[in-house]
Amino acid sequence: MASSFPSVSELEATARRVYGQVFGEEPPQVAVCAPGRVNLIGEHTDYNQGFVLPMALPLVTVVVGSQTSGPDVTVVTATEDADEPRRVDFSLPSDGAPLSPGLPRWANYVKGVIQHYKAPPLPAFRAVVASSVPLGGGLSSSASLEVAFYTFLQQLKPDDGDKVSKALSCQQAEHTHAGVPCGIMDQFVSVLGSEGHALLIDCRSLEATPVPLTDPGLVILITNSNVRHSLTGSEYPTRRRQCEEASSVLGKDSLRDATIRDLEEAKGRLADVVYRRALHVVEEIQRTVKAAEALQKGAYKEFGKLMVESHNSLRDLYEVSCRELDELVSAAMEVEGVFGSRMTGGGFGGCTVTLLQAHAIDKTILHIQERYGGTPTFYVTTPSAGARVLTMS
Ligand code: GLA
Repeated sequence: MASSFPSVSELEATARRVYGQVFGEEPPQVAVCAPGRVNLIGEHTDYNQGFVLPMALPLVTVVVGSQTSGPDVTVVTATEDADEPRRVDFSLPSDGAPLSPGLPRWANYVKGVIQHYKAPPLPAFRAVVASSVPLGGGLSSSASLEVAFYTFLQQLKPDDGDKVSKALSCQQAEHTHAGVPCGIMDQFVSVLGSEGHALLIDCRSLEATPVPLTDPGLVILITNSNVRHSLTGSEYPTRRRQCEEASSVLGKDSLRDATIRDLEEAKGRLADVVYRRALHVVEEIQRTVKAAEALQKGAYKEFGKLMVESHNSLRDLYEVSCRELDELVSAAMEVEGVFGSRMTGGGFGGCTVTLLQAHAIDKTILHIQERYGGTPTFYVTTPSAGARVLTMS
C-alpha cells in the first residue's frame, strides 16, 4: 500500500495547534506552504547550467506565525525527525551582522533565509513549522523549508515579489547556512511549481516551460529506500569540482556548452574520472530535452527508456547511486506496465521515481516490496503547485 500523508490543511491545523500550545490563545496571522519536489529526469545537470525536469509535490512544509513587537524571533518545529532542540530563540541581525549557522541543524535553513531575505530589516516574529516532506529523503525537504520560510517573511515585510530571485536567495541560504553547494532546481520548482505540470527548467537562462502531466492513465510513484549513505556530504561538492575541471579543460563556461565531440577530442587531456563525470552531464542534458518532448507527445515508453538510461549513467558514469537504489529500479522494471524508473535527487540513498500505467500500481508496489531487501515507503503523487499563502488575517 502507498503511504498516506497529511493534506496541506491537516498540516496547517497541526502547526496552528502547536502554535496555540506554545504561544497561547491568539491565533497566528499568517499561514503559508511550499512543496518538496521529485525530479523526473535531468540529474546533476542544474549546476552545469543544463536542463532539469522536476515537479512540485503534494508533500509540503507549512509555516504559521505572527509578527511580534519584541526584538527576538522564536521558531518551533513540529517536524518529528528534526534534531533537538525543537525551539530556537535568537535576535534578528542588526547592522548587517551575520546570523551564524550552528545547532540545531533545522534552524540553519531559517537563519539562512533571514540572512538572504531581500527586503531587510525584518520585524520580530514567532513561527511554527510543520512538514510532510520526509527529512533527508531526497525530496527537497530543505528547499521546501527555505521557500516556505521566505514566503512567510514576504507576508511580514513584502519584497519585490520576483520569483526567480526568491529561488536564488533560498539557494544562497543553502550554500551559506547548510554548507551544500547545490544547484537551483529544488528551490526553483518549490517556488514556481505548477499544478498538473512538470517544469522543464533551463538552468542557464532560468526560464521554465510547463509540461502537462495529468493523464489519468499514468501514475508517478516515489519509492523511498529509507537509506541515506553518509557519502552525500562530501561527494556532492567533489562532483561539482570535477565538472568545473572538465569545462575549464574544454575552455567552456559550463558543460552546457560542451558536445560529445568536444569531450572525445579532449579525452586525452582529461583524467578518466573527470571524463566520465562530464560524459554523464552532456548526455543527461540531451536526454532531458528529449524526455520533455516525449512527455509532451504522450510517448511514455520513450520517456521511460530515457529514465532508465539516466539511472544507468548515474550509476556507472557519475557514481552517485547505491545498491538499494539499483535494487529498487531493477525491481520496478520487472513489472509489466512500468515505463521507466530511476534514482532521483543527489543520490547515495533517498528515493526512486517510477512512471507506470495506473492499473499496474498495486502489483508494482507489491513486487518492489517483495524484491527489496529493506523497508521502502511508497508515495503516489501528482504534480502540485509551488509556494503559496494559505491564510492571512
Ligand atoms: C540535489 C541538489 C540539486 C541537484 C540535485 C542533483 O538535490 O540540491 O541542486 O543538483 O541534487 O540533480
